[in-house]
Amino acid sequence: MPFASVSIIGCGWLGLPLAEILARQGYRVNGSTTTLEKIPVLQKAGIFPFLLQVDASVRGEGVKDFFDTDIVVITLPFRRSFTDPHDYRKQVDAVLAQCKNVPSLIFTSSTSVYPDNIGSAAEELDFKPDNERSKVLRQVEKHITARKGIVVRFSGLYGGTRKIGAFLSGKKEFSGGDSPVNLIHQDDAVGILQKVIEQREKLAGEIFNGCSDAHPTKKVLYTAAAKKMNLAPPQFIEEKNSVKKIVVNEKVKKVLGYKFLHPDPLKNI
Ligand SMILES: NC(=O)c1ccc[n+]([C@@H]2O[C@H](COP(=O)([O-])OP(=O)(O)OC[C@H]3O[C@@H](n4cnc5c(N)ncnc54)[C@H](OP(=O)(O)O)[C@@H]3O)[C@@H](O)[C@H]2O)c1
Repeated sequence: MPFASVSIIGCGWLGLPLAEILARQGYRVNGSTTTLEKIPVLQKAGIFPFLLQVDASVRGEGVKDFFDTDIVVITLPFRRSFTDPHDYRKQVDAVLAQCKNVPSLIFTSSTSVYPDNIGSAAEELDFKPDNERSKVLRQVEKHITARKGIVVRFSGLYGGTRKIGAFLSGKKEFSGGDSPVNLIHQDDAVGILQKVIEQREKLAGEIFNGCSDAHPTKKVLYTAAAKKMNLAPPQFIEEKNSVKKIVVNEKVKKVLGYKFLHPDPLKNI
């Protein structure tokens, strides 16, 4: 079977390495960016570049060609800077409006959609989002799955240019020292998306968590990171109730057969 065509909305930290790998594998890959200077970077990697801006609509040259594809992967970031979180829903809806004839949709969500007090966060749990951003994100996910799209909820992304503990210098006091971390390496995030793309036809409407196996506490992980960076160990404020959210990753292993390349963030500092 010839390789499918994939259009990736957002060739950023996650979308670009995914686009590069898929192009190397033989997929026809369209990739979007809002940054003119990145066009030659995409071209050099064998990606067909599109300069697209998504707001309440998708604007740019070649919108129709971009969406004339077998698979759309949406990696638009849910920026903290959105004054109204519903702006994100509008962006994703604008993309969905262009996808009426696209057979497969994949959306990168976040495990921040789960409430902090959830304990073990597994995909099949019915939960109530505990803040406005999470509520909006859950709505967006529902728009995707209602269209038989696939949602991958990633935990905190690290690897490549994003080093664990990069935020440590310049700040001394932290909260949540006893809370377990939920992180995933860039290689695994890309690897999971590759598996989802390969197996998409049997995954309509599914939701997956993307998170490493190991969940060291913040205190353990960031103290080790500070040591590696030759910084003073971070100080953690004593707290009575710490967040105990652990994102479960069994489903990607069982259903997708995914094997983690970096199961323990502590080994990657
Ligand atoms: N960061 C985390 O720890 C984390 C955790 C869980 C889930 N996620 C999710 O993972 C996904 C990928 O995140 P990332 O870190 O790769 O994001 P990123 O590096 O900021 O890349 C986002 C991409 O989307 C493009 N983009 C942003 N706003 C746009 C707009 N309004 N219209 C059109 N294109 C736009 C950017 O364009 P340019 O190329 O011009 O920059 C960039 O290519 C996102 O869905 C995010 O919500 C992230």
